[in-house]
Amino acid sequence: MNDGAQSRAAAVRAICAVLAKGKRIESAIADFISHDLSGPDRAYAQALTFGVLRFGHRLQLTLMPLLARPWDSQASELKALLLIGVYQLEYAETPPHAAVNATVEAARLVGQGRAAGLINACLRRFQRERTELLRQADFSVAGRYSHPEWLSVAISRDWPELCETILASNNEHPPLTLRANTRRITTEDLADRLEGRGMRVRMSTFAPRALILEEPTDIRLLPEFQEGLCSVQDAVAQLAPLYLGAAPGMRVLDACAAPGGKTGHILEECSDLKEMVALDIDAARVDLIRSNLARLGLSATLQVGDALDPTILAGKRFERILLDAPCSGTGVIRRHPDIKWLRRPADIAQLVVRERKLLDQMWGLLEPGGRLVYSTCSVLRPENSNLVSQFLADRSDAVDITKSISLEFQGLNALSQVADVGISIFPGISGTDGFYYACLERRTLSI
Ligand SMILES: C[S@@+](CC[C@H](N)C(=O)[O-])C[C@H]1O[C@@H](n2cnc3c(N)ncnc32)[C@H](O)[C@@H]1O
Repeated sequence: MNDGAQSRAAAVRAICAVLAKGKRIESAIADFISHDLSGPDRAYAQALTFGVLRFGHRLQLTLMPLLARPWDSQASELKALLLIGVYQLEYAETPPHAAVNATVEAARLVGQGRAAGLINACLRRFQRERTELLRQADFSVAGRYSHPEWLSVAISRDWPELCETILASNNEHPPLTLRANTRRITTEDLADRLEGRGMRVRMSTFAPRALILEEPTDIRLLPEFQEGLCSVQDAVAQLAPLYLGAAPGMRVLDACAAPGGKTGHILEECSDLKEMVALDIDAARVDLIRSNLARLGLSATLQVGDALDPTILAGKRFERILLDAPCSGTGVIRRHPDIKWLRRPADIAQLVVRERKLLDQMWGLLEPGGRLVYSTCSVLRPENSNLVSQFLADRSDAVDITKSISLEFQGLNALSQVADVGISIFPGISGTDGFYYACLERRTLSI
């Protein structure tokens, strides 16, 4: 059995875990792309998994006309094998005959030996009829940019002029961006150390601690990471402490904190806080906050708990609250292409209800005169500006101050000109993930 078939079989198992079992891509890869594979085969299996999840909606449209039975009635392994096959033919550099042969051989490894003839026939027909099959698939915007129809419609409804840019960039490979731990090293010195290791890095034009790596690398092996000199964080996520504006002596709450990316950054920027509380509902993820802060040489009061529980943090008040809400993740699809497959249209309304409840609950913990930063990694207005607008309409003591906070947005083409509350940042425009921030100040109301 050749290794090419082994790596494709591993990718089939990982893809099925996402598409049929609803697993997230990281755990599917951890579970099924085994360490028995050689390094290059493992990397190839991962690339196939990411590639199929990125381009699978488009590719399945090209496969449907080739099958006698409806796509949805086919076995998951067969669908994954066909997607892997056409993905290689359309997007990978594998020679076509090797792609077809290894995929057919992989069918036997995943219990689809009887379908080997069908897979062979479909892939060869795809090669012959490729132009016409793709023309038909590309007829709709969703097909052309390989998204589920509902998501393409939702993005187009919210951002008609930017929709195709956002969808196209959701299929790109994201850069690896680091955040220098300013308590231990400057961004410039970190850049020098990494360049000394032969790495090519570039500064962000708007996030002062961000360094963008030009080539992918296994960051966990870097001494600079192990020594706590840096963290992995997209440049746009590094704006949170700048918007929060925590100052010495303040009590700060990070309400949905795990794995602690933004907690660490807030602490790096401001050393003399009265207290930094990092709360998260998920105990295992709170352990990640603990280990991340330990690596960075930082500490906070960690708490496992539901931010919606009114007894949580009862009696406490904070001058600054970050609510980095659990959201649809539609701004980070390029990093997590499984989101296209795992999110359902009905999820959005449910997420909005929870996001609003979290905002109401956290507002009750904010000192008068204090500031709450509401953020999501979503590009959908219902989770962002619509929700915050409604909140402002309902609360006479809340005011949006986002645009009055002057940040150096050089190079960050944030759509602050949009007549909207908060600030929306889009993948494909700024080179960053998609993100939303609203800075809300709690007025002291005179009676
Ligand atoms: C977007 S992630 C936060 C990322 C984090 N701020 C960072 O920068 O590393 C959202 C987090 O909210 C947590 N969460 C979801 N519902 C929650 C709730 N009701 N109370 C507290 N945390 C919650 C999830 O466990 C998840 O860790």
